[in-house]
Amino acid sequence: MRLDKFLADMQLGSRKEVKSFIKKGLVQVDGQVVRSDKTQIDETKAQVTFDGEVITYQKDFYYMLNKPAGVISATVDNYEETVVDLLADEDFREDLFPVGRLDKDTEGFLLLSNDGALAHRILSPRHHVEKEYYAQVNGIMTMADVQAFAKGLVIDGGEETLPAQLTIVSVDEGNETAEIRLILQEGKFHQVKRMVQAVGKEVTYLKRLRMGNLTLDPELALGEYRALTAAEVKALEE
Ligand code: URA
Repeated sequence: MRLDKFLADMQLGSRKEVKSFIKKGLVQVDGQVVRSDKTQIDETKAQVTFDGEVITYQKDFYYMLNKPAGVISATVDNYEETVVDLLADEDFREDLFPVGRLDKDTEGFLLLSNDGALAHRILSPRHHVEKEYYAQVNGIMTMADVQAFAKGLVIDGGEETLPAQLTIVSVDEGNETAEIRLILQEGKFHQVKRMVQAVGKEVTYLKRLRMGNLTLDPELALGEYRALTAAEVKALEE
């Protein structure tokens, strides 16, 4: 990889800026000042320092975000705040995107990454990566609903869902409300809300708790995020 690309990828500046840093002698490779921006390096082996600080190369970035309501699952928008806007300046990268979408009013686990291959694997219905949700519902959920969800439902528009595991967490008979957990193997548009609607009830609050083997970190308050550990990235791929 070219040295100027390496430095720009690591967000030390634009391609033009890092070229000038190199020309000024601020960059060393394996202990030697290098003044040509065309210098080729092995990004996995070379020790690159910028102004004395070691720069380690990282290609893929993964963040777990506890998405708050009111923010849209997009990268840029002229009117609405996006999940990428929640990143601090030092973590922001142009190539980060939300892996899958949560509705504007849905909270919880959203993965942000620049790894398109991983996103494809997680989102493809063929891979059946589980997504687990907690929801509050207007209406009483019943064992008949549990059975209907387990078979797979026809939701509005005639779409068929895969079998889904519904657990009734609590029922408030007086207020005619319920709390549920739902495990899906796919991610159709508004799927939780439409499945609940298909059995005659309405989701009033929705939060994603888990994607595949990764559970939302309880230490993350709404709007907070953190980088995944290497072990967590591996767990996502399993
Ligand atoms: N299902 C929904 O209805 N909304 C979401 O945000 C996620 C799953």
